[in-house]
Amino acid sequence: MQIQLPKIHQGKVRDVYQVDDQHLLMVASDRLSAFDVVLPDVIPQKGALLTQISNFWFDMMRPIIKNHLTGIPVEQVIPDADEDLQQRAVVVKKLKALPCEAIVRGYLIGSGWKDYLNTGGVCGIALPKGMQQAAKLSETLFTPSSKAAVGDHDENITFAQMGNLIGTERAAQIRDVSLKIYHQAQAHAENNGIIIADTKFEFGLDADDELVLMDEVLTPDSSRFWNQSTYLVGTSPESYDKQFIRDYLETLDWNKQPPGPRIPAELINKTAEKYHEAYRRITGQSY
Ligand SMILES: Nc1ncnc2c1ncn2[C@@H]1O[C@H](COP(=O)(O)OP(=O)(O)OP(=O)(O)O)[C@@H](O)[C@H]1O
Ligand SMILES: [Mg+2]
Repeated sequence: MQIQLPKIHQGKVRDVYQVDDQHLLMVASDRLSAFDVVLPDVIPQKGALLTQISNFWFDMMRPIIKNHLTGIPVEQVIPDADEDLQQRAVVVKKLKALPCEAIVRGYLIGSGWKDYLNTGGVCGIALPKGMQQAAKLSETLFTPSSKAAVGDHDENITFAQMGNLIGTERAAQIRDVSLKIYHQAQAHAENNGIIIADTKFEFGLDADDELVLMDEVLTPDSSRFWNQSTYLVGTSPESYDKQFIRDYLETLDWNKQPPGPRIPAELINKTAEKYHEAYRRITGQSY
């Protein structure tokens, strides 16, 4: 559906529109990315599922932290919004984004695992010797990164560097809030068969300089979700959502540069079902 608002940002998956000085419209598309490349096929309803998963968590975390949702119905800013757009879009408060991202790791995987192999720790935090890939960390780690300019990759920073960027008190507040959100979400997800191996939060400041949780929260795009029933330490568990697609792409002779290849319909359907399953497990409802 055509949106008659100025588009101020297009991410791999989401489009952001300016509503007015204080509000943005964030629209999650059905686009799918793998190896940082947006693929030519879409996953039906993926955007709506992502938005609704975020909304579920924002609501659950209200006692812990303010969030960017305004509750303004999409139809109020897009009068002819169809049901589809209403499900995939949210009207949010336009915040002053903080220049760092809050990464929380409950398991030793991905760049954390690589770092551990090279240095014996993750982002400068020393860990016990002899840990295995995908092991649960005895203490959840907070490993911030600085938000890179468009095109650049985000860069890990120490907690002290984060303090230099935004102030020590603010950094401590973000660390504490992030760990709280993660622990509450992890407990909820584990009760429903999902392990949240790690995740990334973004925060901004509102007009009163209060800390607000923004962007997307605890979706398969911003987190690593694993299936509890197939989780095995010492392996690299595939992320919940991308499993079929990545396995397929690895069988191709593709250099992981755009344009990405087409994906067979059967895999599109299987992947769509994984997003539905994530939604069902997290929210307890079927979409
Ligand atoms: N309430 C908000 N106020 C201001 N900016 C926000 C708010 N919520 C999210 N943002 C910003 O909007 C942008 C959303 O973009 P998006 O996540 O789709 O793409 P990206 O992060 O640039 O790239 P990609 O996720 O594709 O790697 C991010 O820069 C995010 O920090
Ligand atoms: Mg993003």
